[in-house]
Amino acid sequence: MSLREKIECEIRERGPIPFSRYMELCLYDPDEGYYSRNAEQFGKAGDFYTSSDVHAVFGRLLARQFDEIWRALDRPPQIEILELGPGRGLFARDVLDWSNKKFPDFFAALIYTLQESSPALQAKLQENLTEHVAAEKAYISGEARIARPQVGAGAPTCPAEQSSAPAGIHRRLTYHAPLIVFANEFFDALPVEILSLQGKLHLALENNRLQETCLPPLAAELEFLDRYSVHPEPGERIEVPILAQDWIRQIANSTTSAPLLLIVIDYGYTREQQLADRYRGTVMAYRHHSASPDPYQAPGEQDLTAHVNFTALAAACEQAGMRCEKLFTQSQFLMGIGEKNQFADAFEDCRLPQERAKVALQLKHLVTPAGMGENFQVLMASRGIEPDKVAALSGLLWNERR
Ligand SMILES: C[S@@+](CC[C@H](N)C(=O)[O-])C[C@H]1O[C@@H](n2cnc3c(N)ncnc32)[C@H](O)[C@@H]1O
Repeated sequence: MSLREKIECEIRERGPIPFSRYMELCLYDPDEGYYSRNAEQFGKAGDFYTSSDVHAVFGRLLARQFDEIWRALDRPPQIEILELGPGRGLFARDVLDWSNKKFPDFFAALIYTLQESSPALQAKLQENLTEHVAAEKAYISGEARIARPQVGAGAPTCPAEQSSAPAGIHRRLTYHAPLIVFANEFFDALPVEILSLQGKLHLALENNRLQETCLPPLAAELEFLDRYSVHPEPGERIEVPILAQDWIRQIANSTTSAPLLLIVIDYGYTREQQLADRYRGTVMAYRHHSASPDPYQAPGEQDLTAHVNFTALAAACEQAGMRCEKLFTQSQFLMGIGEKNQFADAFEDCRLPQERAKVALQLKHLVTPAGMGENFQVLMASRGIEPDKVAALSGLLWNERR
């Protein structure tokens, strides 16, 4: 059964489905979802680039930052990094390789867990991290997706319905060990609801074709707009990323009294920016490096994303007892970490001037406003770590100076 048929089947059995369910099926249907069946979406031959596709320096600089965090925590004998949605694992490999080479004491204490829901990408992770997995330094965990009960009596015609709601954080170490949670371009890949003046967007079938329709929103969704976003004006669509809030709660519950530090890097916006009439409707589809606002063109064959609402994410962190730093850009973050040694981490493997020139361009792409530097924001939140220790991290220094 094709993904389109599966979606239609579900609508026939259950009635109109919310946009979040459509997005969930498109990305994470166990057989036909864009991420579940495909491991070739990254890089030049795929549909999009992420920072680790640009150059290993992204992971190397973060390894430097993680080592600093470990030292700020007085060098605990064990510390876990949990990466959410690691994709094919380039970032993890860069962090582990560089830590092994440059920060051996930190590396000795480190356990790196990769929580990836896509079976195709889990296989890629095994391949890309073979040595670290064999050495029991890296652990790959999937996500037990919860099967929702079948609707209606009689023999089911649709496959069992699955949910991508977080079934829990999978830590390797105990809840008493310090934890760093890292998520690069994870939150933008979570299903969202969409609200307009007409109501909450659903997908129905009309003459056997997918058709948009609106139903009344839930009180919690309207409350979300009141608190963290804006209400749509005529002709506008505003996203409600409730699932992202659930993930923050799960993250906060993944340690007891042990130190917890969360680093989220993603493209996104704040409520203030929405009030200034920006970022009102950010759902986009990506295929072969071109962007389209049409999420219905090729279900399962294109990436679907929504910008991250950082105001809501920060509020969820604070509600869970975490302390948030002021939002800053990827550019400020990487400049802060890299400037002390003039980004030596980037150039270490360069033998020839041409190689240096190429790496300088890649670094520029990661750091400058024209590249990914200003589009990507960094949210850092912590609990159980003295605030002055967090403020002294090199990744925050550039932020403080502005
Ligand atoms: C846009 S990709 C980012 C990949 C990687 N972080 C990078 O920067 O290259 C989003 C990733 O999140 C994963 N993902 C989405 N929902 C997930 C979930 N519930 N549990 C674990 N991984 C998930 C996807 O399968 C995909 O690998």
